[in-house]
Amino acid sequence: MAENLELFAKRFSTRGYQEEKLTKALLDQVLTAGLQAPTAANKQEVHFTVVDRENPVLAEIEEEKNRLRGAVPARNFYFDAPHVIFLSADKKFFWSPLDAGIACENIVLAAETLGLGTLIIGCVKDALRGEKEAEFAKKLAFPEGYEYEIAIAIGYKDFVKEPHTYDYNTHISYV
Ligand SMILES: Cc1cc2nc3c(=O)[nH]c(=O)nc-3n(C[C@H](O)[C@H](O)[C@H](O)COP(=O)(O)O)c2cc1C
Repeated sequence: MAENLELFAKRFSTRGYQEEKLTKALLDQVLTAGLQAPTAANKQEVHFTVVDRENPVLAEIEEEKNRLRGAVPARNFYFDAPHVIFLSADKKFFWSPLDAGIACENIVLAAETLGLGTLIIGCVKDALRGEKEAEFAKKLAFPEGYEYEIAIAIGYKDFVKEPHTYDYNTHISYV
């Protein structure tokens, strides 16, 4: 549908959120979009963990990221969103990173359809795959043998930004 194409064109990364939490029904709608994403050989090896803003694990991850980077940014990695969804996947499966990325985009676009804002979060990868990997995997309820792939902050937007620009001619070839 043409509205879907408009949605892609208008989406932007949300780096400011309203206080309001999402209902479980709304969260389930976007998580279901994640489950509906295709996976290689239909392995369905991606797991989704929803963490609320108040959960102390978010501050612990922030602290570990900052320790590894030797810097404390002005805003935390989830921009005080009411929820963060962590995607983990089977460490041993070749397609896990791509499958998690596809599920991530399904969630982002489902959220946009529902009038919500999202931010894809890669910056905590070193913290979640470093020396505290096992501790964080346990706190985030990753299944055995799974590792962090990507995270998504989600909530009602309190921030507006123009969509990014792009150069069609540089990035697309017809041969
Ligand atoms: C794999 C991936 C990781 C990202 N990690 C972060 C991040 O850690 N922090 C952040 O603020 N934005 C992050 N972003 C958002 C990008 O910076 C953003 O998508 C890009 O600048 C284009 O802007 P737009 O999403 O508003 O179109 C990430 C995006 C992707 C796809």
